[in-house]
Amino acid sequence: MKEKIEKLLAEIEGLKASKEQEIEEIRVRLLGKKGSVTRLFDEFRDILPEHKREIGQILNKLKVAASGKIDELRSLIEESEQPADSKYDLTKPGDMISIGGRHPISVTRDEILSIFNKFGYILAEGPEIEDDWHVFGALNFPPEHPARDMQDTFFISNGENPVLLRTHTSSVQVRAMEKMKLPIRIVCPGRVFRNEAISARAHCIFHQVEGLYIDKKVSFADLKQAVLLFAREMFGEDAQIRLRPSYFPFTEPSAEVDVSCNICKGTGCNICKGTGWLEIMGCGMVDPNVLEANGIDSTIYTGFAFGMGIERIAMLKWQVKDLRHYFENDIRFLKEFETVI
Ligand code: DAH
Repeated sequence: MKEKIEKLLAEIEGLKASKEQEIEEIRVRLLGKKGSVTRLFDEFRDILPEHKREIGQILNKLKVAASGKIDELRSLIEESEQPADSKYDLTKPGDMISIGGRHPISVTRDEILSIFNKFGYILAEGPEIEDDWHVFGALNFPPEHPARDMQDTFFISNGENPVLLRTHTSSVQVRAMEKMKLPIRIVCPGRVFRNEAISARAHCIFHQVEGLYIDKKVSFADLKQAVLLFAREMFGEDAQIRLRPSYFPFTEPSAEVDVSCNICKGTGCNICKGTGWLEIMGCGMVDPNVLEANGIDSTIYTGFAFGMGIERIAMLKWQVKDLRHYFENDIRFLKEFETVI
């Protein structure tokens, strides 16, 4: 009897289980009605009285060991079923995750759009792959205008109305006049493409925002006011503007807009090359030829348009003077804008 108990004790010591069902089988095998421990208790009745004390003690030890082992196996299984992270100390600080920042061109574009949005301009977009009519023809470019030259434009096909990559977002003006009801008040952001050698000051891809307002009685004074309000929102409330006469085929009269240098406040520095002024956009009154080419009666309606380079505005905001930085996506450059989000 004593040997049997000791053998069973050693066996219990080495028991293993990986499932609840196996534990239940072990329990039945040991402590069930016909279990080996229960059977030993039955045999205990026939033990001689002089051995009862000694055997009784080790038999009790066996019972305690059996139920102890079952409890132990159960808690081991419960532990391994816990979700993995409960094994970790949740009060410890985690590893820092770098979330990245928004690209300075996106930040600048959204700022320009939200300023004009406040003035009532809505967003309009058009395709990057365009035809000659929308980029040049409908915008009053004479047939031999140098901007159509192979050196500037990436042509995709040739023929009467060749397919090309748009060289400016003014093409969206034409798309808008074709499908929108008057009055029209839109801002059109997007990528433009020009066949230029890549350098610090020029790139074959860049971004523009075009604006267009057509209604009855829109005047040059309205244009000047819109541009002034934009400049003050973008560059600070004491920003000044000046207009210089210029030429664009699609506007008459046309002007180039300068804003007072926000670095030196007009006293002259190397950013404004000592002039106190920075060029920010082209603009003008929509040429009546453009209105007529797009089916708008120029004796009833007038309008103004403006166009600016997003890289140019971003350069003025952050003094990043090499255009190539905006396209190379060097993580060290982009990281400098993480706080701008
Ligand atoms: N499309 C011109 C460019 O790419 C910019 C421009 C100038 C747009 C004058 C206009 C404007 O709407 O009125 O250089």
